Amino acid sequence: MKKRIITTDVLEDDKRTDLTLRPQSLDQYIGQEKIKENLKVYIQAAKERHDALDHVLFYGPPGLGKTTLAGIIANEMGVNLKITSGPAIEKPGEMAAILNNLQEGDLLFVDEIHRLNRQVEEVLYPAMEDFAIDIVIGKGASARSIRLNLPKFTLVGATTRAGMLTAPLRDRFGVVHHLEFYTVEELVTIVKRSAEVLGVEIDEDGAYELARRSRGTPRLANRLLKRVRDFAQIKYDGKITQEAANYALDLLEVDQYGLDMIDRLILTTMIEKFGGKPVGLDTLAAAIGEDAGTIEEVYEPYLIKNGFLNRTPRGRVATELAYHHLGLEALLEQP
Ligand code: ADE
Repeated sequence: MKKRIITTDVLEDDKRTDLTLRPQSLDQYIGQEKIKENLKVYIQAAKERHDALDHVLFYGPPGLGKTTLAGIIANEMGVNLKITSGPAIEKPGEMAAILNNLQEGDLLFVDEIHRLNRQVEEVLYPAMEDFAIDIVIGKGASARSIRLNLPKFTLVGATTRAGMLTAPLRDRFGVVHHLEFYTVEELVTIVKRSAEVLGVEIDEDGAYELARRSRGTPRLANRLLKRVRDFAQIKYDGKITQEAANYALDLLEVDQYGLDMIDRLILTTMIEKFGGKPVGLDTLAAAIGEDAGTIEEVYEPYLIKNGFLNRTPRGRVATELAYHHLGLEALLEQP
């Protein structure tokens, strides 16, 4: 399936701009006010004690700034940042080597931490709790375990699926924060800041139009900003106005609520193919040819948050709002 312009996965193009657009300090970071307020206190307290920050877990939908926050914490603490991810570490020895190379106070960021395999995860338990790793030497009856001390470090874990973390791992994080979708107003501020960094002219209505269609997600807002900039440059006089933004986003088939073809396909399938009756996740996935996990993690949260879809014990159902948005009012069941 073609990559959607509104995918919240990191695309190649995002990696380049991420470096320039990413805020470097908590003061530059827009939104997630509660998290910022808490982190400010924890960071200041740890610094005053000359101590490492407690381990932190961020969870929530992709593209909301988990990696960015890890980078900011490292900056504010004045420590090195090491970045890895759950699927990148296959063997316990690899995790042990990463931990062993850390320096006092360093921050280790593990993205998609729910995807660590069990043996690798077990290396983390004593590392997080006692700042030590246990290494087994020898085999069979002569095998023995020696304990290697580690410098005091901070683990920052990120996951889109907190429910998939094992209890022993989850319990070892002192600070746990859920990232929320951004409000349109917050995204307007982010879009304007990014436009300034990129040197693009944008007016209030242009920023609003972009923000409104960005699914509460800064990663998308910044990606769409770059695409709209291209259209503004070629089709208009370079300035992003509401007209330019509308023109570009309509062409990109991202509608006024930020829904794209696949979101609309999910909703139309539920309404037309399944007659608006509750549909099981796997049935729905098969009907549209998409992975069930992806539907659940990537598409559904935004559809649910915006009132287009409900999860019920008997399956997923499209809401009245979905019927109206898609112009399918005629199919609404009469009570
Ligand atoms: N760019 C991406 N996310 C951001 C945020 N939360 N604040 C400011 N700029 C951003």
